[in-house]
Amino acid sequence: MAYARIEIAPSILASDFSRLADEIRKVTEGGADVLHVDVMDGHFVPNISIGIPVVASLRKATRLPLDVHLMIERPEEYIEEFVQAGANRVLVHQEATVHLDRALAMIRELGAEAGVVINPATPVAMLGEILDRVDTVLVMSVNPGFGGQKFISGSIEKIRQLNQWRARYNASYRIQVDGGVERHNTGELAQAGVNTFVAGTSVFHTPDPAAAVRDLRKAAMEALSQKV
Ligand code: DX5
Ligand code: ZN
Repeated sequence: MAYARIEIAPSILASDFSRLADEIRKVTEGGADVLHVDVMDGHFVPNISIGIPVVASLRKATRLPLDVHLMIERPEEYIEEFVQAGANRVLVHQEATVHLDRALAMIRELGAEAGVVINPATPVAMLGEILDRVDTVLVMSVNPGFGGQKFISGSIEKIRQLNQWRARYNASYRIQVDGGVERHNTGELAQAGVNTFVAGTSVFHTPDPAAAVRDLRKAAMEALSQKV
C-alpha cells in the first residue's frame, strides 16, 4: 500500500491561534503525521475560519504535510493559490462543486495530493466515478463548520463500505475521518478502515496535546492488532 496505515492529523481549528507555532510544536513532539487546516467561507458552511495567508505562514513554521480542507463554494477558483501557499494535500467537498472531476485533476496537476470529502448526508455511492482518481476520501463524521461536535455514528458504515471497495477494486486511496474523533472511538474507526484521523478538540483542548496525539495513535494501533 502506498499510504501509511495510521496517521494522526491534529486540526488547528481547535488550537490557540495566538500561539500557533507553539501549538504545532507540541503536536509535532507527540508524533503528528499531518496538520489539518480547516478553511471556511461563510457560504458553504455557516462559519468563517482561515485562508491562504495562514497556510503560507504555516508552511514556514513546520515541515509536516499540510492537509487543507476546503469548506468553500467553487473550490476550483482557489486551488492554485492554496497549493502555491504550501498545501500538500487539498480536500474538496463533493457537494461544493459541480465540477468535481476537474477540481481533483487541477489539484493533481499542480503537484499536490487530491482528496474528496463527503458530508454526513452524502452517500458513498456519489463517489463511484472518481475513486480511481483520488489520494484520499474524507468522511465527515459531523456536519462541517465547527469543532467540538458529537460524532455521527452512521459514518462508520460509510467507512466500512469505502474499505470494502478499496479491497475489491485494489484501489489505493486513504480513508480519512473528521469530526468528533476521540480516544474512545478511534479503535472502532481503525478497524473499519480509517487511515487518517483528524482530531481538533480531543488534541488541543487537553492539558497535554503531545500525549493526546500519542494516545490516539496507540488506541488505533491496539485495535488493529486485535482485529482478527
Ligand atoms: C469541522 C472541521 C474539523 C474540526 C474537527 O468542520 O472540518 O476538522 O476541526 O474538530 P473536532 O475534532 O473538535 O470535532
Ligand atoms: Zn476538517
